[in-house]
Amino acid sequence: MKIVNKIQDLKSYLAKEKQDKKQIGLVPTMGALHAGHLSLVKRCVEENAVCVVSVFVNPTQFNDKHDLETYPRTLDKDCELLQAAGCDYVFAPSVEEMYPEPDTRTFDFGPVMQVMEGARRPGHFNGVAQVVSKLFYIVEPDNAYFGEKDFQQIAVIRAMVEQLNIPVHIVDCPIMREADGLAMSSRNTRLTPEQRQKAPLIARTLKESVTFAPGKSVQEVIDFVVKTIEQEPVMKVEYYEIVDGHTMQPIHDWSETDYPVGCITVYCGEVRLIDNIKYASNLKG
Ligand code: PAF
Repeated sequence: MKIVNKIQDLKSYLAKEKQDKKQIGLVPTMGALHAGHLSLVKRCVEENAVCVVSVFVNPTQFNDKHDLETYPRTLDKDCELLQAAGCDYVFAPSVEEMYPEPDTRTFDFGPVMQVMEGARRPGHFNGVAQVVSKLFYIVEPDNAYFGEKDFQQIAVIRAMVEQLNIPVHIVDCPIMREADGLAMSSRNTRLTPEQRQKAPLIARTLKESVTFAPGKSVQEVIDFVVKTIEQEPVMKVEYYEIVDGHTMQPIHDWSETDYPVGCITVYCGEVRLIDNIKYASNLKG
């Protein structure tokens, strides 16, 4: 496994791989890798001749300076895990390498990026599009792997590759969960032991809401989720929206989509956690 910091070096290595007609897979990450990331890497290794993993805490997607400063950075440990997972190239550039000049590009992928995370974290998806488009231009992967925990992010990236005509296949991979159901996230390490113990309530409630949903209206399901989670004083729901999983637009009646997905953001103390759940396609109520 090669650890590469410079764009030109990575391009040279990959040019050789491409000459040999090898299929390239990319897993973009911000490091602090956990089993969720490693499941993406495993899939990338299985499905491609060459697996590239980028490890880069992208400053342009953080709308909160404190969040950027405190984001966990564990490159040595990440590289050990990636080596064991069969990764071929770790691309770990500096901020100056990725942004020698400020990236002034602004993207508009329409309504898909205006709701939920897009509405609450101004500039976040623009920053994601900046860095992911750069990674796609640098690596030119055949396949790129993203986790469904960031459900809206995948929709934004799909809209981006379509609008910018980037020839890459986007592969979405299921959420990986801890044994108690908590969606794996690098942010989980910031939870205090007490918060960590309470945090699985989010996933548990989402799961219960799937059983609760038949015969209930969309609003009744939303109220159930919010009230159940907020019974726990350490939890504050920032939003819970049930959306059309194709367009990310909130629905008010089950008949509005064949793909209802509930997307949640909860503050557990200071830590912002996200998760989502898919509902049956034929609900009424
Ligand atoms: O999902 C993430 O970790 C980041 O948003 C990504 C896709 C690596 C871009 O920085």
